[in-house]
Amino acid sequence: METSKIPSHVGIIMDGNGRWALLRGEKRSYGHRAGTANVEKITEHAFKLGIKTLSLYAFSSENWARPKEEVDELMRLLETYFKKFLKKVEKEKLRINVMGDTSVLSAKLQKIINKAVETTRANDVGVINIGLNYGGRQEIVYAVNKLLKENKEITVENISENLYSAEFGEPDLIIRTGGEIRLSNFMLYQGAYSELYFTDVLWPDFDEKELDKAIDAFSKRHRRFGKVEES
Ligand code: IPE
Ligand code: IPE
Ligand code: MG
Repeated sequence: METSKIPSHVGIIMDGNGRWALLRGEKRSYGHRAGTANVEKITEHAFKLGIKTLSLYAFSSENWARPKEEVDELMRLLETYFKKFLKKVEKEKLRINVMGDTSVLSAKLQKIINKAVETTRANDVGVINIGLNYGGRQEIVYAVNKLLKENKEITVENISENLYSAEFGEPDLIIRTGGEIRLSNFMLYQGAYSELYFTDVLWPDFDEKELDKAIDAFSKRHRRFGKVEES
């Protein structure tokens, strides 16, 4: 594969777990389990390709409106995910970060998340930045309120610097699986100039080859950031 233009920061809206399961005559939770397993596969491949930061949309601030049974199952899966992958992440010197309002999660899950974030903080091979109870609008409001409290000016730069995951910068590429062509409140501010890639492939089926295809599409894009292309 042509690897000359590997995006440094990739965001993924991991959508389609529920439909993947229903297509197989299974409950939605079956799809969420398959989707969680796929996170491990895709992160491994992404860092192998040279991607430095992966921002993964795991649970949106709007996903609380789903049936309680599904929300509970997703929270349980997150607990297992953080515990199970921590060893592997540590071994590979990857860093875990969480963006979103984690204060409303169960005390147990908060503890598990904090441990994962704290123990991997100094790792520098790659960053897995997980959007959990994340909303792009809420993030902008959070940044603005922080500036107001600190009596700082509301500027484009200051807002950027106060977003949840400011230190990881802006995604070069945002991928959405599952066929919907929308952002669903994902990285609205920092995605202003991200390249967007939409695929019908449902998240549990999004394998290494599919990621290669997305990167390949990205490498053919011409990013202008409002300027005129240099020839
Ligand atoms: C994405 O898959 C996972 C979460 C939003 C938590 P969905 O659960 O949205 O799956 P579909 O879109 O209904 O197929
Ligand atoms: C976006 O998917 C959120 C995540 C992938 C975590 P949704 O399934 O919640 O988005 P909508 O409802 O189709 O916009
Ligand atoms: Mg969905």
